[in-house]
Amino acid sequence: MDTGADEWSSRLGFILASIGSAVGIGNIWRFSTIVGQNGGGAYLIPYLCAVFLVGLPMMILEMQAGHRLRAQVVQAFHAARSPLRHAGWVVCILVTGIIGYYLVVTGWTLAYVVFSLSGTRELFGVFTASFAPIISFLASAAICGAVISFGVRKGIERITTLLVPAIFVILAGMVLIAVQLPGFAAGVSYFLTPDFSVLADPLIWGAAIGQVFFSLSVGYGALLTYGSYFRSGGEIPRSAAIVTAADLLVAILAGLVIFPIVFSYGLEPAAGPELAFTTLPLAFALMPWGSVIAVVFFTLLFFAAMSSAISFLEVPTVTLASMARMTRRRAAVIMTFVVSLIGLPAALSYSAYPLRIGGVPVLDLMDETFGTFGLSVSGLLIAVTFSWFVDPEVIWGDTAKSSFLMRLVIPLCRYVIPAALVIAIVFRAASWVLTAG
Ligand code: PFF
Repeated sequence: MDTGADEWSSRLGFILASIGSAVGIGNIWRFSTIVGQNGGGAYLIPYLCAVFLVGLPMMILEMQAGHRLRAQVVQAFHAARSPLRHAGWVVCILVTGIIGYYLVVTGWTLAYVVFSLSGTRELFGVFTASFAPIISFLASAAICGAVISFGVRKGIERITTLLVPAIFVILAGMVLIAVQLPGFAAGVSYFLTPDFSVLADPLIWGAAIGQVFFSLSVGYGALLTYGSYFRSGGEIPRSAAIVTAADLLVAILAGLVIFPIVFSYGLEPAAGPELAFTTLPLAFALMPWGSVIAVVFFTLLFFAAMSSAISFLEVPTVTLASMARMTRRRAAVIMTFVVSLIGLPAALSYSAYPLRIGGVPVLDLMDETFGTFGLSVSGLLIAVTFSWFVDPEVIWGDTAKSSFLMRLVIPLCRYVIPAALVIAIVFRAASWVLTAG
């Protein structure tokens, strides 16, 4: 039976699929939002430290665990210690919760591709109040499920080898346009000038770690699952370094596009989550060739979102397929249905039936609980399980002896990452208790 025991055709296929997972709306939409809200370049130092001290080692650990144990998330936890399989299920459940709202935002990008193609200038508020977000959300979920049902090589690899190069080409073209804008220098200096005074603020560091995890797709088991399809050959640390560099490059290039546009057209850099959907379309409407640029920009967002959403959905799908011994196709259909149900309240939360809990839109609540808090919890479970409860020889093999980098990576995974995540969890829980009280 085909339960998904498929593998990448080559190391390049593995790297491109992992870049597809990492490069997503997190790099373009969430990153520029967080940079804008945290004072521009101030945020970059904690971000860069978090990428290299926390994000990259965690990515190496996850890929290496999947590669060496050759197992999806629950089986990999089970292989560490049998009772730890429950922790594997927790990771799967958290990931499933995240996909629900991630696909809603993916749907927004799809809808904006359609609007910009048809020349409609849809205001974000008008769009979200209609039924269009629900249709575009369900369409995105269906596309994602369809890709996954074709398997690792024929589905995921085939689509990501098309989308990832397209993302880089589109982004490079947009940078060339941004360079010619009058606000390029102002945008770049806002984006890249570091401010050392904020380094003492622990909240900035917490936000940076959270964003790095989200952006690099680590802590959710997605790259562990992708690592398990990388059977032949080693070189995981180098592959992870390439994926990390590509992810960072896209985030920086996206900033070099977005902030010059914002400054050239007198817009607000700290506009928040609506930056991409409300603020930038204002600029597109004023730019020469703006309607073409809008199509290109939203296509970029859609491609990036889709290749990430696929990696999210792969985690529970392959788990279901192997645990329930069903075909990948059937598991993909079931999981697409499940995430469609889970995401529906999030898709409705900005609509004419604004679903809110305690005054907060469900989508924001899901981002906070699954995307931010849940991510720290699942990241902690992965970091602790695979660096403490599995014989290092099993996870690392010869790589551990091979280089200075590896001698650094293992202690970072054992001590620094769990400590940082525990602090992040405690801070977050404390802020909830304080705001509730
Ligand atoms: N890294 C993706 C982004 O930056 O948008 C989000 C993501 C996708 C996180 C898949 C985790 C994951 F498993």
